[in-house]
Amino acid sequence: MATSSDILYSVRNLTVEYETRHGVVKGVDDVSLDIRRGEILGLVGESGSGKSTLGKAMMRLRNGSARITSGELWFDGQNLMELSERQMRDLRGSRLGMVFQDPMTSLNPVQRIVEHLTETMLTHEPEWTEEEARARAEELVERLGIRRERVKDYPHQMSGGMRQRVMIALALALNCDLVIADEPTTSLDVIVEAKFLDLLKELRDEFNLTILLITHNIGVVAEVADRVAVMYAAKLVEIGDVNQVFEKPLHPYTEGLLKSVPNIELDSGALYKMEGSPPDLSSPPPGCRFHPRCPYMMEEVCPIYDPPFAPPEGASEDTRVACWLHHPHPQKVAIGA
Ligand SMILES: Nc1ncnc2c1ncn2[C@@H]1O[C@H](COP(=O)(O)OP(=O)(O)O)[C@@H](O)[C@H]1O
Ligand SMILES: [Mg+2]
Repeated sequence: MATSSDILYSVRNLTVEYETRHGVVKGVDDVSLDIRRGEILGLVGESGSGKSTLGKAMMRLRNGSARITSGELWFDGQNLMELSERQMRDLRGSRLGMVFQDPMTSLNPVQRIVEHLTETMLTHEPEWTEEEARARAEELVERLGIRRERVKDYPHQMSGGMRQRVMIALALALNCDLVIADEPTTSLDVIVEAKFLDLLKELRDEFNLTILLITHNIGVVAEVADRVAVMYAAKLVEIGDVNQVFEKPLHPYTEGLLKSVPNIELDSGALYKMEGSPPDLSSPPPGCRFHPRCPYMMEEVCPIYDPPFAPPEGASEDTRVACWLHHPHPQKVAIGA
């Protein structure tokens, strides 16, 4: 079991709300999550489940009208909710790194890659000379599989995959402790994707990085993650060791996600398409939010009572699931379930 010193980042009861024309929408609803030092934690769920809202909120970056309305964000012993915007900006540039789906927007279009890297490093390591920073920039870029001479390129001269590697180089240049990568491989073809995922693993080992890997593709998680967290309709529904979750998913939603991936064999073998679609978050269903799509739904329990996100009966603290199949409920006794 993880002890508190193993935990680098801890999200506690986080709720993030959007103001919309249809009223307030909770993009993240009472989510708690621990990220352990040196792990790759995969965060998966269908589009619109709240993954990006959570990732951005963890950096205290605002996404549109998003506002953190409750909860705590503990990073290496400090509560980020208590820091000023300025302190947060320093932290984002130094210890917390982020890689987005399209890094084009995070890179300066009129600045060569090497200048961007060098400048960023010098801002955070003012004692370095320009030559030192430049040499380190070149070394990192090469380490990430980009030829040294390409550092003189402008972002638009590079492929999406290269730009992504540049973003990782930036995070490494700054010696980030935690990198939040939001759909980093979505724009890549499968071969580049596989290389990128291998690289993530290598970097984690070499630089002792901790990575939150956000993806709608559970296959990507299978490739690289140590643990996996599953999000559905703004809530976490399952978290656990990747092998355990893939072998024996506890939440019916996780099971559905796994069954719909062509390369992952479940007992039944056949490829599966999950019924229905995720709810509109402006009016989520009562009780368990997954109940309208759930093949195991218990009429007397699931549409009425919100399941706790907790270890299943008799299991260790390392596994958590929000599903009445795995938690006691008086109504279950009444119906003999
Ligand atoms: N800019 C926005 N304005 C209003 N609501 C938003 C906005 N972005 C996201 N949301 C709401 O938050 C939910 C989660 O979105 P998001 O975090 O982007 O999901 P994911 O990254 O899992 O696809 C969406 O389903 C939507 O209801
Ligand atoms: Mg997203």
